[in-house]
Order: sequence, then structure tokens, then C-alpha cells
Amino acid sequence: MEKKAIIIGASTGIGRELAKVLSSEGYIVGLAARREELLRELQQELPNPSVVQAMDVADTEQARERLNALLAEMGDVELIVLNAGIGIRNPDWEQQYRLLMINAVGFAALAELAMSYFTQRGGGRLAGISSVMALKGVGRFEAYSASKAFISTYMQGLRQKSRKLKLNITVTDVKPGFVATPMTEHNENMFWVAPADKAARQIYRAIQKRRSHVYITRRWRLVGWIMKAIPDWLFTRLPV
Ligand SMILES: NC(=O)c1ccc[n+]([C@@H]2O[C@H](COP(=O)([O-])OP(=O)(O)OC[C@H]3O[C@@H](n4cnc5c(N)ncnc54)[C@H](OP(=O)(O)O)[C@@H]3O)[C@@H](O)[C@H]2O)c1
Repeated sequence: MEKKAIIIGASTGIGRELAKVLSSEGYIVGLAARREELLRELQQELPNPSVVQAMDVADTEQARERLNALLAEMGDVELIVLNAGIGIRNPDWEQQYRLLMINAVGFAALAELAMSYFTQRGGGRLAGISSVMALKGVGRFEAYSASKAFISTYMQGLRQKSRKLKLNITVTDVKPGFVATPMTEHNENMFWVAPADKAARQIYRAIQKRRSHVYITRRWRLVGWIMKAIPDWLFTRLPV
């Protein structure tokens, strides 16, 4: 039987590498993002057939319509990865608004649709790309941290709902540390930076194993543990 997956935010970085991993594992992949030309280029590189759908997640009505269209065109999709996101250091209000529309509101708009689809299908897998930054409000990245906390909390709720209602939907919360992608290319002071292809392979394995949470790469579990344990008074005093 054909395996089918959709990645929202597949044009660059982690999403693009994940599309390559899924395609090489025999999946037919639905590729969505704003930059259709990059998705078409990627389509040429993939070893298996794929379907391209341009969408802007910030335009939630359009994004839901287009995800619906992609689901109808592909049929019987078992995995949806919500990866689209932006990160801006010291954003002004306009930038914060856009970030929240993409990372939080756009995420919820598509997660709700994915859950309805999988409920009707009798099961499926949903993965959302959060961040280690979801664990604390990080100075100069307040909106980004809060948007990722929203994603993780939202998925926790979906996991509980799936279990309670026996929906047979696995929800995987992916928390990367630092991954080398266009998003981080100008960042300074990064450590334990993973290549995007390595991050994608680890994300794929976690989804296959139906894990509820995964840190990318695995050593970031340690940072996650420290971030959860560190008291507020000390966290507030850390340099950012
Ligand atoms: N890199 C890291 O260190 C790191 C760490 C933690 C979490 N993450 C998360 O990982 C995810 C992927 O990021 P990345 O590092 O791979 O960065 P990236 O290369 O910039 O990829 C972001 C992806 O999201 C898509 N996207 C952005 N805004 C969109 C919109 N309005 N509508 C539809 N698609 C949109 C982009 O496509 P278009 O621009 O073509 O629309 C692109 O495909 C993000 O959610 C990010 O927050 C990354």
C-alpha cells in the first residue's frame, strides 16, 4: 500500500530535508509553503512522486482550503507535519503579529483540520515542530518562545483528546535545539548545531516510533531538562 505524507513548510531547511527522507522511504509527499518555485525544484530531486501546493499559513482561510485540496488530491494521507514557522530576534509589533499568525494561529488552523481528517480516516500521525525555546520565555525572542509553547501545549491537548476518544491519532511534539537552516544562518552564539538532514532523519524515526516528544538532536534533552529545572530568578539573570 502507498504511504502518503504532507509537509507544511517544505521549501527550505528542516521541512525540505524531511521531504527527502520521507520520499526515499517510499512516501508520496505533499509539499506546501509559500515559495512554489522552491517546491517545484524539490519535486525534481525527490525519488518518488510528490504533489505541490502553494499556501500562506498566515492566511488561515486560504491555508485550510489548500490543505483540504491537497488531502483530496492525494487521498488516504497518514502523516501531516506542521513545520512552517518564522523566528525573528527583537521583532517590532508588526513582525510579532505576523510571527504569531504563522507560528500559533496558522498552526492551530491546520492542526484542527488535520485532526478532523484523521478522525474521519480512523487514525493517523500528526507532528508539529515546536522548539526547546517553548520551555522558557527567552529574552528578545518572547513572541517566538510563546508561539512554540502554544504549539506544544496545543499538541498536548490533542494527544489527550485522541486517547480519551480513542481516535488512534499519534501526536509528536518535536523540539529542535539549533539546526543549520536559512532561519539560523545569521545567528551567533549557537552550539550543538545539527545539520538539517540529520535533524530530519531523527524526526522521521521519532514519528515512526510514534513518540509523543522528541528533542532534536537527542543531546538537547539535557538542555530541556535544565530549562525545566532552572528557577525563574536564575533564568532571568542569564545573559541573552
Ligand atoms: N533551525 C532551528 O535551529 C530551529 C530550532 C527550533 C525550531 N525550529 C523550527 O523548525 C521549523 C522549520 O524551520 P527551519 O529552521 O527549517 O527554517 P526555514 O528554512 O526558514 O524553513 C521554514 C519553512 O516554513 C515555511 N513558512 C514560513 N512562513 C510560512 C507561511 N506564512 N506559510 C507557509 N509556509 C511558511 C517556509 O517556506 P516559505 O518561506 O517558502 O513559505 C519554509 O519552508 C520552524 O517552525 C522553526 O521554528 C527551527
